[in-house]
Amino acid sequence: MDDSSMAKNILSPLESQAQKEHQIKLDTGTKVKEANGRSAAARIVGKKVNALLRINTDVDPQVHPYVATGNKNSKFGIRNEKLQWFLDVVKAYSNESKLVGAHCHIGSTITKVDIFKDAAVIMVTYVDQIRAQGFEIDYFNIGGGLGIDYYHTGAILPTPRDLIDTVRELVLSRNLNLIMNLGDHLLQILAHIELVSPSQPDDEISTFDVVGPVF
Ligand SMILES: Cc1ncc(COP(=O)(O)O)c(C=O)c1O
Repeated sequence: MDDSSMAKNILSPLESQAQKEHQIKLDTGTKVKEANGRSAAARIVGKKVNALLRINTDVDPQVHPYVATGNKNSKFGIRNEKLQWFLDVVKAYSNESKLVGAHCHIGSTITKVDIFKDAAVIMVTYVDQIRAQGFEIDYFNIGGGLGIDYYHTGAILPTPRDLIDTVRELVLSRNLNLIMNLGDHLLQILAHIELVSPSQPDDEISTFDVVGPVF
């Protein structure tokens, strides 16, 4: 049996429990699969997995519907009424995984930082609820993606620092470490470097690790 089919076998009891008890559609309820898959993988390699719970904040990111990920009807993130069930699952898997934080991703190409503030206000209340159950969570991953001047119109858009300034007080009030999704800004910086300084054949090559989804 290879590792992936082993993982599938370990997954099935919890998946069917989720389906039966909570009518979670597993084609859209990727959280259950992911939680199970990671626990199974952790068991296989004998290591604990640090996990962040992705929560649906139901905040409108004011972007194209195709890149909105955190509305109530979005398939992403745990909804308020399912939070307790997921926390119980995490407790049941405490030998394999450790909950270290909370995550939200509300959409991509967002151009107003107030929207992130709205999401952060909701997320810190979830952090309070999760901590009240004894979980020592330290990380808050605030997604989604901050938009850039895609059409080169010279638009003045909020910077990553503006985003940080908007949520700083809330994040500090809960003593959290902030993680941000800056994929588009990173690409903008890379594109800029290429533009002003095209590489030469005899240039030194450096290798970097880029973490996260890069499209
Ligand atoms: C969890 C998560 N991270 C990252 C992304 C990529 O988008 P962005 O770079 O705009 O945050 C998505 C897109 O749906 C996502 O759901």
